[in-house]
Amino acid sequence: MKSLDSILEKTETELSCTSFVGDPKSLFEPIEYILSLGGKRIRPALALIGCNIYSDNIESAVKPALGLEVFHNFTLLHDDLMDGADMRRNKPTVHKRWSPNTAILSGDAMLIASYKLIGETDPAYLSEVLALFTETALAICGGQQYDMEFEQRMDVAEEEYLHMIELKTAVLLACALKMGALIGGAPAHEADLLYKYGIDLGLAFQIQDDLLDVYGDAETFGKNIGGDILCNKKTFLLINALKLAEGEKRNEVMSWLQREEYTPSDKIAFFTTLYEELGVKELAEKKIKYYFEKAKARLADLNVPAERLDVLTEVSDKLMKRKV
Ligand code: IPE
Ligand code: IPE
Ligand code: MG
Ligand code: MG
Ligand code: MG
Repeated sequence: MKSLDSILEKTETELSCTSFVGDPKSLFEPIEYILSLGGKRIRPALALIGCNIYSDNIESAVKPALGLEVFHNFTLLHDDLMDGADMRRNKPTVHKRWSPNTAILSGDAMLIASYKLIGETDPAYLSEVLALFTETALAICGGQQYDMEFEQRMDVAEEEYLHMIELKTAVLLACALKMGALIGGAPAHEADLLYKYGIDLGLAFQIQDDLLDVYGDAETFGKNIGGDILCNKKTFLLINALKLAEGEKRNEVMSWLQREEYTPSDKIAFFTTLYEELGVKELAEKKIKYYFEKAKARLADLNVPAERLDVLTEVSDKLMKRKV
């Protein structure tokens, strides 16, 4: 079994060996830029961990694992443009540093590059892996569209939110784990169980991202705090605040959500205090724990020696405590 550190190190080394240099430079430089800024590398790590549960040889999972990281970074280029986000990993986002068109086209090139890497999967698993990846990529587009549409709605139910984050975030974590497991030779039903684990982990992960967007430390988190508040994102926090706010408080909330001219720091301060007053911060923390525990309970149904799951448990525990 590989340690978590060696898996992360391998991801980093292999990624730095994958060249995205080419002409025109203005197309490829932003790709090198975003990929060189680090990040948690959780998706390739999950793919390699999934593979390592079933096989001591993780080499055949490396290219598809990198493909997932390149794909994830592609979604970030487009996501930051769609969310109007200025900072990512403590650096200016691609659309800010270059231009919106650059974020679109370099993003497109990354999507294609990710398919190229996934295409290097062992032919024995290629068709299944490709089908899984394609289905996942399409689901993410759906999630992103819901996310944008929800900005305009005030009546988003928690179930709709959970469906949206399952699509925009959880399916990629689930896909990574399942893809690795398949390449490692996992039986189909075990790969499916790991997929479900990844979904629950991903739901917890996105609710935590919502929480960190308000309560995180800008420097550690690497993104501007309060970005979700400024664009009326229907996060777990806002949905529950809308459910709980009553009377005059509710009028005040609605007025902030409809206001077009305001000082950004005032709006952020209002919602940050509101979430604390209404206890939705604690609700979010509870929900994160709930999905995390749900994920963990699924592992009992896997027919593998307990120690083969140590690294998966380690990385999941680390994610749940993250501030990044
Ligand atoms: C950011 O993903 C997008 C979300 C799904 C919340 P990560 O939090 O994994 O970002 P990096 O890759 O570590 O920077
Ligand atoms: C990200 O959701 C989902 C995808 C990138 C597909 P967010 O918009 O919450 O991610 P961050 O907070 O910008 O990283
Ligand atoms: Mg965003
Ligand atoms: Mg977004
Ligand atoms: Mg976010």
